[in-house]
Amino acid sequence: MSHERWAEGEIVAVKGHGTPAILVPLAKGPVRIGQEGVIDLTDQIGRPPGGSITWLGTSYRILRPSLADLFASVRRGAQIITPKDAAQLLFRAGVGPGAQVAEAGSGSGALTIALAFAVGREGHVTSFDRRPEFLAAARANVGRAGLADRVTFVERDVVRDGIDLSDLDAVLLDLPEPWKVFPSARDALAPGGRVATYTPTYNQLERTVLALRALRYDEVRAIELLERELTVGEGGTRPSFEMLGHTGFLAVGRKVD
Ligand SMILES: C[S@@+](CC[C@H](N)C(=O)[O-])C[C@H]1O[C@@H](n2cnc3c(N)ncnc32)[C@H](O)[C@@H]1O
Repeated sequence: MSHERWAEGEIVAVKGHGTPAILVPLAKGPVRIGQEGVIDLTDQIGRPPGGSITWLGTSYRILRPSLADLFASVRRGAQIITPKDAAQLLFRAGVGPGAQVAEAGSGSGALTIALAFAVGREGHVTSFDRRPEFLAAARANVGRAGLADRVTFVERDVVRDGIDLSDLDAVLLDLPEPWKVFPSARDALAPGGRVATYTPTYNQLERTVLALRALRYDEVRAIELLERELTVGEGGTRPSFEMLGHTGFLAVGRKVD
């Protein structure tokens, strides 16, 4: 995690013990925060992360937001990707610092935030959606996360019009018919680049994987992730009774030849 001193305009996480992080843009003067009231973090500008303040009688740390903090702050419109699936998509699609990435659709921008976080300052994400209202929602969420300068939003139907980019490291598709985008994704990828998909049904997954093979993508894999929370108590540690039974299936393929 970066220990660079805070600059005006950065998004900071105001974190109290046992309470969720509140994301706040660092500004000179008081900033209004939802229902909570007004906070003044002027003193933090130029200081390193980790400082503490007392606000409304409670003490808080001023921290650099983690990806989990950013995810928790997403305002939902479209069905968003879960953290377990987003994390695995980053890994499987090979998205890291400096990567050039495209995704469709933007939806609420949750996966966009994960991608923008992972590519860092040197990388870039182009996020396509055919519906302007989703683009607006995603843009707002990415802006609140302080990652707007790493993302270009484009209104485009990628099934009809394809992905007009080149030399990409990864293309991520969270839309109903990803296989219809595979030919143009292949053209847009650099050698070694990966396409990764997220679909909720077996039927979609089967069509996805068969299309990846037909187009001679390499290293084709399909996976499902099941996450089980554990309830921990001395002498009584066990799996939680509740579990999210199903989210979506992931598929990935790599352009080699
Ligand atoms: C489930 S949402 C994506 C959620 C997003 N990954 C997130 O984490 O917030 C699917 C999105 O795909 C978009 N979409 C569907 N078909 C599309 C197409 N052919 N071209 C571009 N976007 C498309 C929809 O408008 C919708 O916003």
